[in-house]
Amino acid sequence: RPRPLVAGNWKMNGLRASARVLEEIHAGYTPGLKAKVELAVCPPATLIGHCAQLSIGSRVAIGGQDCHAKESGAFTGDLSAEMLADAGATYVIVGHSERRQYHKEKDQDVCAKAVAAHRAGLTAIVCVGETREEREAGKTLAVVKKQLRGSIPVESNSHNLVVAYEPVWAIGTGLTPTTADVAEVHAVIRDELRRLVGKADAPKVRILYGGSVKPSNAAELMAVENVNGALVGGASLVAADFLGIAGAY
Ligand code: 13P
Repeated sequence: RPRPLVAGNWKMNGLRASARVLEEIHAGYTPGLKAKVELAVCPPATLIGHCAQLSIGSRVAIGGQDCHAKESGAFTGDLSAEMLADAGATYVIVGHSERRQYHKEKDQDVCAKAVAAHRAGLTAIVCVGETREEREAGKTLAVVKKQLRGSIPVESNSHNLVVAYEPVWAIGTGLTPTTADVAEVHAVIRDELRRLVGKADAPKVRILYGGSVKPSNAAELMAVENVNGALVGGASLVAADFLGIAGAY
């Protein structure tokens, strides 16, 4: 089993004062917890440099929430993977449903961003997940497979790729799939990974579950087969909650 990863996605939340949350996370990342689980925090890009400085020596990794596919150029307002790496990030989330929804990102865009992440030496956290309509239509597995095939670059391996299954209807809603549903989707993702990264490496790729993870449901979700950690939104803004989720291991 791969070493679990609990990653916090702060989304568009956090000012410089929010670094206090990160310091509380550092304080609670005890040797016992370090032995069990890897932690990452993905703050807004304005805080990556600051958070990376604060995290030196703490073993809490810092990540971006998105990147541009190109290394540099005339793309006003965008940030390259190289810039995130230069600021101290080691991870970047790509293809989050909020990017797919609000910025019309397609699988091929997500794939290009993951390629950029790898070019810059970052580990890409590639997000997939069905909408409520897709689940109700019985299309969940087909949607997730299609997203994986379209979004994961060929050079991916267990070091530079993490997959996050985030059902769109579970994000920020307090709703979660049943453990049986999570197990079914994660098994399909593992199976797809055999084709995408090869049989030897597929078992080592971390597959995170995301969507309304909180301390009270983390143990149950993290115990599901093929769940190798969590991608946490709202609860990652409160150090005690984030640490409570990590402590579910
Ligand atoms: P919530 O944990 O707030 O539901 O968000 C999940 C998510 O989108 C993490 O990327």
